[in-house]
Amino acid sequence: MSGTVRRSVVTGTGSALPKRLVTNADLAREIDTTDEWIVERTGIRQRYIAGEGETTATLATDASRKAIEAAGLTADQIDVIVLATATPDQTFPSTASKVQEALGCKNAYAFDVAAVCSGFLYALGTADALLHRGMGKRALVIGAETFSRILDWEDRTTCVLFGDGAGAIVLESREFPEADAATVPGIIATRLHTDGEHNELLYVDGGPSTTQTVGKLRMRGREVFRHAVVNLAGVLEEVLAETGHAPAEIDWVVPHQANARILDATAKKLGLSPDRMVKTVELHANTSAASVPLAFDLAVRDRRIQPGHLVMLEAMGGGFTWGASLLRM
Ligand code: UT7
Repeated sequence: MSGTVRRSVVTGTGSALPKRLVTNADLAREIDTTDEWIVERTGIRQRYIAGEGETTATLATDASRKAIEAAGLTADQIDVIVLATATPDQTFPSTASKVQEALGCKNAYAFDVAAVCSGFLYALGTADALLHRGMGKRALVIGAETFSRILDWEDRTTCVLFGDGAGAIVLESREFPEADAATVPGIIATRLHTDGEHNELLYVDGGPSTTQTVGKLRMRGREVFRHAVVNLAGVLEEVLAETGHAPAEIDWVVPHQANARILDATAKKLGLSPDRMVKTVELHANTSAASVPLAFDLAVRDRRIQPGHLVMLEAMGGGFTWGASLLRM
């Protein structure tokens, strides 16, 4: 429509963590590792691990309830639910449909998106596109994982790195005068990438159609690290170029929380100030698709992220998949 611009605006955020907190020292009692090694190599100090009765769907439901409440909505006002996970409750139905039922979002269609640690960016891009196409006015976008259930607890090179959790946001499609496009809230641009060539660097060694088992996570960390810094810097530059924004204009970067060293290296490569990066890796470890919305919710609730702020979300994970999204609050 001429004279107006349509944007998917973030109207609420929420997050949820399992009850059980596991510190590095707790792990060092069971596994051949040390708090010192984990902190120095990753920045991680603790993680939350799902217990009995806690699943990807229950965590997603708790996070979503808070996001819907923060948006000032009731469950029946949600039109679409897009849930990113690599650890669904069951192979099918989708975890999104379990969340839809648990929340009572009876007017929403719901489905899962699988892009591992980049899943939330993929879910966000998908939901934004659906809203632009008029396939609903309000979307619930969730990243939720219980990676503890696909970890090989005998493999110290991977099991210390991950945690469980969920984060959610509500998007609402709104129209603004085109003349105000530079300052109005909402998602400005999203870029997504996949390169299937490197899937042997980060994968799960099982699945319904291959082994008929769930499988365990396998990762060649050093190689993934190298690709992560290059790919993330690349996609961030792409989004900045597309939107015409300079790194200095970004109020907050909310990155995927895999490793504090990746965050620092990416910030340095782009000339972003490290104190503009929301860092939660020490608190939550790597929660895969949940890590971006978990960190986002934390920074919204502690009021670091304010209305009007320019916020960049970014993630990279198995596939490889990676992406970034620039939005104004
Ligand atoms: O979320 C998806 C994206 N994922 C990522 O972005 C993860 C990217 N990768 C990383 O974050 C890092 O590569 C790791 C944290 C996984 C590993 O750090 P690193 O500095 O690359 O260590 P490394 O794999 O090169 O291992 C160094 C040493 C090895 O010993 P040697 O061979 O040098 O004697 C490992 O055996 O550290 C040893 N090691 C450990 N020691 C104590 C590996 N894991 C542990 C451990 N505790 N848990």
